Amino acid sequence: MSKPIVIAVDGTAASGKGTLAKKLAAHFHFAHLDSGALYRLTALAVLEAKGDPNNPDDALRGAQTIDLTLAGGPSIRTDVIGRAASQVAAIPAVRAALLDFQRGFLARPPGGSPGAVMDGRDIGSVIAPDATAKLYVDARPEIRAHRRWQELQAMGIVRDEGDLLRELVARDLADKTRAVSPLIQAPGAGLLDTSDLGIDAAFAAALALVSPKVEGALKDRHRG
Ligand code: CDP
Repeated sequence: MSKPIVIAVDGTAASGKGTLAKKLAAHFHFAHLDSGALYRLTALAVLEAKGDPNNPDDALRGAQTIDLTLAGGPSIRTDVIGRAASQVAAIPAVRAALLDFQRGFLARPPGGSPGAVMDGRDIGSVIAPDATAKLYVDARPEIRAHRRWQELQAMGIVRDEGDLLRELVARDLADKTRAVSPLIQAPGAGLLDTSDLGIDAAFAAALALVSPKVEGALKDRHRG
């Protein structure tokens, strides 16, 4: 059996990386994992247990008791959970507890798929440094804050856009400067700035960056 193909998609909050990762997975018929959901589920477990997301013991217990059935639902998509997710994500024991699940997903993509797309902050740098193709997705902070405002509004949560911008910039800074697995443009990752691109144009640009490597790997697999 040849090694599964991996597309690592990292980037800043609300940069569009999740949408791109899903579309790439659908295009190549690969499995998809939103690794941010694991940190958000951890945060949810901590807050529901009335724990402190900055406390290593509470955060580790949260990571050990995540409920994966909630991964696709709206309860983890709030900005409160996003902030707490960034706090638990800075704790090394939490990252270690979630590592095996992520590596297992890439080693054996569900459904017997020949590959997987995973989006997050440290996929191309830590989880899968030898990924077949890597993307780093970013956009100007004002654009990302507006996108997040729209997402929240669609869920019936009305927030001040200026507050969201401040929170987003603070979360980026925390994610980029933490000691463990900071957000970086991993070596070999193609930069995609989605500021002035709609979803279709951003997807076309993402495909142009990853396709040569992914198509080459698919051909190698067929050759056996
Ligand atoms: O959707 P958004 O980009 O706002 O957030 P997310 O991708 O769901 O991630 C939420 C938080 O989890 C981030 O701010 C990171 O601190 C953390 N995270 C991480 O540390 N490593 C990952 N691979 C994915 C998320």
